[in-house]
Amino acid sequence: MEKWGWIYMRVSGVVLVVLIFGHLFVNLMLGEGIHALDFAFVAGKYATPFWQWWDVLMLWLALIHGANGMRTVVNDYVGHQGIRKTLVVVIGLAAALLILLGTLVVFTFDPCNGVFQDGAMWATCHPGS
Ligand code: HEM
Repeated sequence: MEKWGWIYMRVSGVVLVVLIFGHLFVNLMLGEGIHALDFAFVAGKYATPFWQWWDVLMLWLALIHGANGMRTVVNDYVGHQGIRKTLVVVIGLAAALLILLGTLVVFTFDPCNGVFQDGAMWATCHPGS
């Protein structure tokens, strides 16, 4: 079991290097670079299945990697068995909650949610009105 955790850290680490540096390169360097970052830029990416899957994969791999890494640290350094087990459960729940919320946001994001009639996005969200 621990062996698979060890392998997961290495494999996810390699994939995360590609996902994270690809993410930084596309968002900060391509085209206008960092100056292009605004609500519309993010909305555009979340309207694209490729970037939805890129971001969700990055989210899942990084959160499981980070949580499993913290589990290792807690197991190595927390001496009291009750506290150790509680912390490992809390880390798992926190990671599960963040994965759930993040995945929901990426796949259900709608830039027209909450746009009011006098808002800047009204004409875009309600063409012809
Ligand atoms: C950029 C790509 C990344 C690579 C190549 C990478 C690689 C690794 C590797 C190989 C380990 C195992 C170390 C060991 O067993 O001694 C590790 C541990 C860990 N990683 Fe990452 N990681 C990356 C990104 C991340 C991210 C984004 C997070 C946070 C979400 C994170 C959090 C951790 C934690 C908390 C540990 C445990 C610390 C430890 O074992 O000393 N890593 N990482």
